[in-house]
Parts: sequence; structure tokens; C-alpha cells
Amino acid sequence: MTTLALNSADIATIAGDVLVVATVPAGGRKKGAVLAGPAAGLKAAPKRKLEEALAALGATGKAGDVVRVPGAGISAAPVVVAVGLGAGPWNDEALRRAAGNAVRSVAGSKRAVLALPVETAAGLDAVAQGALLGAYSFDSFRVDSKAAQKAPVTRITLAVADAKDASTVAAVARAKAIAGAVILARDLVNTPAGDLPPAALVAAAADAVDGLSVEVEVLDEKALAAGGYGGILGVGKGSANPPRLARLAYRPEGATAHLALVGKGITFDTGGISIKPSLNMHEMKGDMGGAAATAAAVVAIAKLGLPVNVTGYLCVAENMPSGKAQRPGDVIRAYGGKTVEVMDTDAEGRLVLMDGLVRAQEDKPDVIVDIATLTGAAVVALGSRTFGIMSNDDDLREAVHDASKRAGEAAWPMPFPEELRANLDSSVADIMNIPLVGRPHGGMMTGGIFLAEFIKDGQRWAHLDIAGPSYNAGGPHGYTPKGGTGAAVRTLVQLAEDIADGAV
Ligand code: BES
Ligand code: MN
Ligand code: ZN
Repeated sequence: MTTLALNSADIATIAGDVLVVATVPAGGRKKGAVLAGPAAGLKAAPKRKLEEALAALGATGKAGDVVRVPGAGISAAPVVVAVGLGAGPWNDEALRRAAGNAVRSVAGSKRAVLALPVETAAGLDAVAQGALLGAYSFDSFRVDSKAAQKAPVTRITLAVADAKDASTVAAVARAKAIAGAVILARDLVNTPAGDLPPAALVAAAADAVDGLSVEVEVLDEKALAAGGYGGILGVGKGSANPPRLARLAYRPEGATAHLALVGKGITFDTGGISIKPSLNMHEMKGDMGGAAATAAAVVAIAKLGLPVNVTGYLCVAENMPSGKAQRPGDVIRAYGGKTVEVMDTDAEGRLVLMDGLVRAQEDKPDVIVDIATLTGAAVVALGSRTFGIMSNDDDLREAVHDASKRAGEAAWPMPFPEELRANLDSSVADIMNIPLVGRPHGGMMTGGIFLAEFIKDGQRWAHLDIAGPSYNAGGPHGYTPKGGTGAAVRTLVQLAEDIADGAV
């Protein structure tokens, strides 16, 4: 990962290849941009020079505005980049996006100095996260084309009032742990499924927690069969790469509250016998985004030493059609015994999650959150940047939504209309995995209602459908790259912090 340092010197003197400053719209009748934050305190002559250059180049100060000017006569850095924050009062997410835009726009330079208006520890955390996440690139599969890519900045220096201040240092440590975890999740999502079969995904997760106080337990296909994990096995049956269930347990001394995370880890979703159309099927290498977010959140939580017990379950299988694959109409047995009639092998996420959810409840957690790229219907309902939150507990749904807001992730609460449950009544088994009538309406909620069947009375549980935001098929924006985004990681870490604080 890109390195991050702090510096309290005059921003005009800090060494670097590019100095990033912030602008906001001038407002009122005035056109153009005015400087915000540390750059507003530049000495008169360099400040005038910068303002004149920005005016000549048409800087607006609007969010997303990026203007480059020569640094000569302004700063030690040879280039100054002015990024717009939008009309104030700006929030932490505006800072996070501006930092991401700035760092992305200076790819190809080595050292960037960021002088953004940071007034609180949370603001600094946001700038640090935005900068580190904006510096992401995924090029481990490039050979000949690698040189033509602009390499992300390797060193970021944040201009702060007091680099030694304890809350400043703590905010940066938090930002580094969280950004590192988001980047891990992005890498796992972006890795081609041919290079990341179930055993490799689980091994990568085990690797990521190596050296942290996290205990890892992995069930292979034999152990899954012995334990009766019919959902994970059924989905994995068609693949030459056998399925896995991984359990990551973080048990800090003295912690009492317990959060369980259950992630959907379909390393590739062809749809199985109910095969998908080929258009954009490659994006289904990202169908393990929930498991990636789960593993990444456990890594960040353990690195930060949060005083809360956390157990992460990765429900991992490859959904392939073959002579050994499960068929529509087959009845499988979930862990714990409930029977499911598989009406569509492409509704496989709920089948691996049901096993994980039943297993997770044996640990008696206070709260369970599952994270899954579960339904295309979630993308239809909420678009590609917002995840859905469903829960059997109104307070928990609110708590997750609140955590997402503070983490800077877009999410929205969805209901569980009870009439949808009857559509899942099976004529041969306890439940069907999709309705025969009432499709496609309410597909995101139907997914949640199916999962609810496996939650015991009184167990607090939330379901996050991250099918939209987990994978960015469009262009990069803010601190979000193309491809894997690491969606939900920041919300999960924030929620764990809130639980540790006794607020949930
Ligand atoms: N992995 C898909 C959902 C998905 C779609 C994720 C688009 C990301 C982007 C899931 O396994 C799936 O295939 N869902 C089906 C459910 C249907 C059969 C009830 C869907 O959305 O069509
Ligand atoms: Mn599917
Ligand atoms: Zn899927």
C-alpha cells in the first residue's frame, strides 16, 4: 500500500512532486473558486499567483473539479492540483471523495502532499482513507501493458496542524487499517475466478489474518459432508474446485459483546444448470464480495484491537454446471436439517448463507450480519452504489444504517413484507429457494425472507445485499476504482466499533 506520513510545516515548503489544495465555489454572484483549508493561509504573493492561475483555468470549486497549475512561485512541489469540495459546509464524505479524486488525478507522480481543510480527527481519517483508497490499482495480471499504466502515488504526506497530536496519530492509524482492509477486499474481488477457487480464497483470508489474534478453522468438502452442510455442498457440487466454510474468530481479552459476520463467497457464479446469459458474466468473479468484506472487516477489527468478539464465516463455493451439478427440483438439506427445494440453481447465494447462518447461531452471537451480492433485484431497486439493509430488528437496521452513514457508504433500509413468505412454500420440501409466482417483484426482499427462515426467534440479525456497490462496472469516481470496491467493509468496522462502545 501507498505510505502515509504527516507534516505540520508550512505547506509551501513540504517536499513532494505535487501539492494538492482544496477549493470551494466562490458563492454569491462571484464566479470561480476560492481556496479552502491550509492553502487559504499561504503568503500573499504565492497565494495571489495560485488564485490567478485557478481563475485563468476556470476552476469552479465544485465537487469533482480538478485543476493543475505549475508550482513555480507557489510551492516547493513543481505542480499544484486544486480539487473542489463543493459548496460548504462540506462533510467527511466530501473530504474523502476530494482526497480520492486528487490522488487519482496525480497518478504517475510519486509523492503527493495533501493540504485539505481538516478540522476534526474524523475529517483527517476521511482524508487519509480517501487518499489511500484513491491510490489503489490492480495490475498483478498485467505484463506488457503494465508500463503504459500510470502508477499510483507511492507516498502521501498529509498537512496537519500538529503531527504529534495523539488524536491525529490515532485517526491516521484507523484510516490505514481500514483502507488496507478495503484494498484487500478489492484485490480478492478483482482476482480472476480461475486464480481464486474456494480453497485459494479461504487460504488468502487465512493469510490476511496471519500474525493477528484471529483463530482460523476451515471445513473442506469432507468435513462439510460429515457436518451436513447441504447448502454449501449442493452449490459446490458442479465444480471441480470443492467448496469450503471458513471461520475466523477474534476473541480479545475482556470483550463481552459478540458480532458474527456471514459472507457469501461464490468464487464464480455461472448460475449453475440455470445458467446465466454470457453478457457481463465475467463480473460474477466478484460474487464473493460478501466473503471478501467479511474477511477484510475481521482483519481491520483485529488490527485495531477493538474490544468486541467477532466471528467471521466465509461460505465459499463455485457455482458451475456439470454432470455432477445440482438440478432445479433437487431437494437439499441445510445445516441443521431444514429441507430446501432448489427451483433455480442461480439463487445459490441464499443456499450457502443458510448453512453459514445456522452455524453462526451456534456461537450465540448478540448480532449477526450477513453480507452478500445476493440479487440483481437489489441493483434494480437501489442502483449500483447503494446497498440494501434488511433486518428482523428495527433498532439494528437503524444502527447499521447509521454506521454506514458515518463510514461514508450509501445504504438504504428495506422492509420484509410478510406476504412474500407464502410464495416460497414448496410442494415437497420445507421451503423453495425462489418463488414460482410473484417473480420478479420484490426479489431483494424475497432473498432476505428466505434467509430469515434460518434465524431463530430472538436472534438479532441484519442482511446486507451489496450486489450493486460491490463491483463498479462504470468508470472510477472519487476514491472508488473500476471493478472491486470493497463495499461494506467500512460499515462493518464502524458497526463493530459501535457495538464495542455499547451503542448497539
Ligand atoms: N450473484 C447473483 C446476483 C447478482 C446480480 C450480483 C448482479 C451482482 C450483480 C445471484 O446469485 C443471482 O444470480 N441472483 C438471481 C436470483 C434469482 C434467480 C432469484 C438474480 O438476481 O437474477
Ligand atoms: Mn446466482
Ligand atoms: Zn450469486
